[in-house]
Amino acid sequence: ISNGLALTPQMGWNSWNFFACNINETLIKETADALISTGLADLGYTYVNIDDCWESLTRDLKGQLVPDSKTFSSGIKALADYVHGKGLKLGIYSSAGVFTCQVRPGSLFHENDDAATWASWDVDYLKYDNCFNLGIKPIDRYPPMRDALNSTGRAIFYSLCEWGVDDPALWAGNVGNSWRTTDDINDTWESMTSIADLNDKWAAYAGPGGWNDPDMLEVGNGGMNYLEYRSHFSIWALMKAPLLIGCDVRNMTTETVEILSNKEVIAVNQDPLGIQGRKVTVSGTDGCLQVWAGPLTGNRFVVVLWNRCPEAGTIEVSWDTLGLESSTSVSIRDLWKHEDVVADAVASFGVLVDSHSCEMFVLTPKLSRFQA
Ligand code: DGJ
Repeated sequence: ISNGLALTPQMGWNSWNFFACNINETLIKETADALISTGLADLGYTYVNIDDCWESLTRDLKGQLVPDSKTFSSGIKALADYVHGKGLKLGIYSSAGVFTCQVRPGSLFHENDDAATWASWDVDYLKYDNCFNLGIKPIDRYPPMRDALNSTGRAIFYSLCEWGVDDPALWAGNVGNSWRTTDDINDTWESMTSIADLNDKWAAYAGPGGWNDPDMLEVGNGGMNYLEYRSHFSIWALMKAPLLIGCDVRNMTTETVEILSNKEVIAVNQDPLGIQGRKVTVSGTDGCLQVWAGPLTGNRFVVVLWNRCPEAGTIEVSWDTLGLESSTSVSIRDLWKHEDVVADAVASFGVLVDSHSCEMFVLTPKLSRFQA
């Protein structure tokens, strides 16, 4: 897809993880307001994405999609105007099937009409789900919507939600700006860790214009503790995953705001090099002491030392896993403490990491005067 979007992973908010079908236009407006008042919008969270259940149960007599008359009575165009007035963008949702997952009208065989409708409403983003697909192959259902969106002349971010499909990264880069690599996340440590591992497999396929999507953030929804959410956010950032907040941003704890607002972690996610970091080494029982890392602009590296064990443990990254000579002198910045912790490490760096926590660093190798 060549709509010029997604040069870095998309950031914003989506209604599904916390609200499911319990949505309306007031909630969407209040969410836009809260993204501004909390400062999250300034940090890059600009997409306000409505998920399933915004539609009326049936199309109108002309076959057009219409918003639910009770919950979105002012219409989507009015909502887009409101959101745009705050400097934010509006996202909408449909399914590449005859119905959405919550049995509202789907867009299969209505691609051109529906894309034109959304463009006329000034919508900026489409999440395109996979329910009620009549068993038709994804490769025959997702490209028609890409073409329909392109032909509107409006730049509309195209987020594929083709969960349950084998090996989507192999084809989706030519179709959408992001593609789901896993089934739905839920707000548990087990779900979050297993999804991270599944998404890791497709790292080579991510890059500017198209990203692997391990599903939306659960940070702030209550099912994990502070350190677990910090791990979730750190690994999603390192993996160049979309950072789509999935909690009620009108009611966040200080800890939730602190995690979602970490500028240095966001900068890793939005680094223009756009290379997805990977799990690079494991140690400990069942490999629960893990090093995840990847390159950043300026010859730097991001390193997350992630302890998935039930007790604290020491995790170490050695320069050779990063492709550096062991004699290279490296300065190390801690992205959660927000301080430079070591000026001139050589060969390796390790710290004690709490159970279910991670520590996240940017490593800057000092160029020798021969390289400079
Ligand atoms: C399945 C998707 O994976 C979810 O993120 C959400 O969009 C629901 N469908 C909505 O029904």
